[in-house]
Amino acid sequence: MTAKIEIAPSLLSADFARLADEIGRAEAAGCRVFHLDVMDGHFVPNLTIGPVVAAAVRRVTASYLSAHLMVEKPEMFLAAFAETGVEEIVIHEEIATDWVAALREIRRLGRKAGVSIRPKTPVERLRHGIEAVDTILIMSVEPGFGGQEYIRGSERKVAEAVSLARAAGRQIAIEIDGGINPRTAPLAVRAGATRLVAGSAVFRGDVAENVRKLRESIEGIGTRDQ
Ligand code: DX5
Ligand code: ZN
Repeated sequence: MTAKIEIAPSLLSADFARLADEIGRAEAAGCRVFHLDVMDGHFVPNLTIGPVVAAAVRRVTASYLSAHLMVEKPEMFLAAFAETGVEEIVIHEEIATDWVAALREIRRLGRKAGVSIRPKTPVERLRHGIEAVDTILIMSVEPGFGGQEYIRGSERKVAEAVSLARAAGRQIAIEIDGGINPRTAPLAVRAGATRLVAGSAVFRGDVAENVRKLRESIEGIGTRDQ
C-alpha cells in the first residue's frame, strides 16, 4: 500500500503581511500541514518568528502545525510553543543540551516530538533516542534561509531514517526540508519520505498551480510502508 505523502508548505516563503490568505490558498489546494520556521539568530544566522506569530497562525487555521525550532536553547521556549496550540514541535539534534530530554518534554506538554538534523549530521546520531521520536526532519539545505538549492544525495539520509525507524519498530514521520521542488520531491519520496516541506516551491507564484505540480511530480511513486 502507498502511504499518503503530505506536502507541508513552509510559511517562511509566504507573505507575512497576509499569512491568513496564504494559508487559505494552500488549504484550497489541499494542504493540511504547515511548517513554521523559528530561528533565533544563534543556531542559524537569521531571525524569524516566535510563539506570538505561531499563536496568530493557530487562530486562522485548523490544519496541523509543525514548529521547526532552529534555536540553540529550545528548552527555553517549549512551553510557550506548546501553549500556542501547534500540534508538533521539532528541535535539532545539534543543540548544546540533551535533545532526547527536550523531546520528552515536548511529549509531556502534549505535543508530537520531532528531531531535525543538519546536512552534515549523520542519521546514526538519532539511534540512541529513537524511542522519544515521533518525527525525523532531514535538512536538505543548511538551515537558515528559504530558497536554497537541494543538497544532492540528501535522499540517502531519508532512506537511512526510514531504516532506523523500521529497525526500532516505530511509526515515525520522515520529513525532508530544503530545496524541495518538482525535480527533487520524487527523489525524497522514492527514498521513503512521508512529508515534504516546501517554501519557495509553494509560495513563489501561483500556490494552486505550484501544489498541483508538486503532487504531479510524485504521483504514482510508491513509498515503502513503514
Ligand atoms: C530553512 C527552513 C526551511 C525553508 C525551506 O532553514 O528550515 O523550512 O523554509 O524553504 P525552501 O523550500 O524554499 O528551500
Ligand atoms: Zn524548516
